[in-house]
Amino acid sequence: LTLPRLYHERVVDHYDNPRNVGSFDKNDPSVGTGLVGAPACGDVMKLQIKVGDDGKITDAVFKTFGCGSAIASSSVATEWVKGKQMEEVLTIKNTEIAKHLSLPPVKLHCSMLAEDAIKAAVKDYQTKLAKSSNGSSEAS
Ligand code: FES
Ligand code: FES
Repeated sequence: LTLPRLYHERVVDHYDNPRNVGSFDKNDPSVGTGLVGAPACGDVMKLQIKVGDDGKITDAVFKTFGCGSAIASSSVATEWVKGKQMEEVLTIKNTEIAKHLSLPPVKLHCSMLAEDAIKAAVKDYQTKLAKSSNGSSEAS
C-alpha cells in the first residue's frame, strides 16, 4: 500500500518555517488588515500589508489559526505580495497558490482563505485611505 502523498515538500517547508508570521498595528494608516474565515472548517486567517505612498506593498505578515495548508498558503501569500502594487496582488488566484504548493483538491478552500485575505487587506487599506482623505481634512 502506498499512501497518497498529500503534501508537497514546499508545503512542509512553509509549514515548518512559515515566512512573515506576525502582526502590524491595525490602526497604523499605512497598514491594511484582512481577516477572513473559512465557513467549511472554521479556520481563520489574518493577513496584513504595509503600503507605501506609491501604492507598493513594502511588507506583509500573517497569523493563521488553521490547518497546515492554510498556514502554508498564507506564508506563500505574504511572500508574493511583497514588493508588488496593490492592484497587482488583487489578481493572485488561490488556484495559483494551490498549484505552487501542490495542494490536493480537498485543500483548495485553504488557499481560498489566502486569496480572500489578500483582497480584504487591500480593501481595508483603501477604505482607510478614502476615509482619511474625505473625512476630517487637516490643514496642509
Ligand atoms: Fe515559498 Fe514559493 S516556495 S513562495
Ligand atoms: Fe480549513 Fe484548511 S482545513 S483552512
